[in-house]
Amino acid sequence: MKRTLIVGNWKMNLNTQQASVLVHRLNKHIEEHRDIEVVLAPSLLTLQPISLQIDRRKFRLAAQDAFYVDEGAYTGEVSFTMLRGLVHYALVGHSERRIHLGETLEVVRDKVQAAIRNGISPILCVGETKQERAAGETKRVIHDQLTTALANLTPEEVEEVVIAYEPVWAITSFGGDRPAKPDEIQSAIRWIRHIIGELYGEKLATELRVIYGASVDAEFVEGILSLEGVDGLLPGTASLNYHKFADIVAAAHRTLQKAGQNG
Ligand code: PGA
Repeated sequence: MKRTLIVGNWKMNLNTQQASVLVHRLNKHIEEHRDIEVVLAPSLLTLQPISLQIDRRKFRLAAQDAFYVDEGAYTGEVSFTMLRGLVHYALVGHSERRIHLGETLEVVRDKVQAAIRNGISPILCVGETKQERAAGETKRVIHDQLTTALANLTPEEVEEVVIAYEPVWAITSFGGDRPAKPDEIQSAIRWIRHIIGELYGEKLATELRVIYGASVDAEFVEGILSLEGVDGLLPGTASLNYHKFADIVAAAHRTLQKAGQNG
């Protein structure tokens, strides 16, 4: 059984003390659910202390980024090798990094490969900007982001990857104030699975975990998770508020239970 993945992306927020307060509250307010895997993605600075503080039955950790070389003269960087054992996952190719930090398709590809090489599952973020959608380029953009990012992996390695569809225009930091519409999410996720199917076969296309992110809040959880082929959520802004994040996890659990009863 695939567990539904809920990944809280804290972005560049919370110093060590603030992060510790949030974790304290999350430990208390989030329940353990067998069908849900809750992942926290704090800043690199706070990963280590948080790893000692989280209730490990409830939470796993993700890095928001890391560098693609394992060790050496790269002042200021932290490698996936250094994160080995500390995190299960790492976000790779988040649109804020592609847009504000100039991460190219090739850099994203090398980071995906470095994550895998170090036993960390990359959560590969893909998604089109408003202009690209308006120009009818959504499918092409997703195709290019996906195929370049996975280019250096074997099919067995691709199994470890999680794909996050995050339409840039719907992300809070880019001006989004609500998630993409269900049919927009559905068609993008179908397209992602179609591409995976063409490259690696139907089995992997079905089994690969594909999640949605951008303006996720508790009120949208049921609508999004009920869509076929959506395996989880990647909330940003809402994950900084323990009430909201706990509500998202609880709503996901209710949705899964309902689906189980109906199916
Ligand atoms: P948001 O961010 O929930 O604040 O829109 C999601 C993300 O960028 O991962």
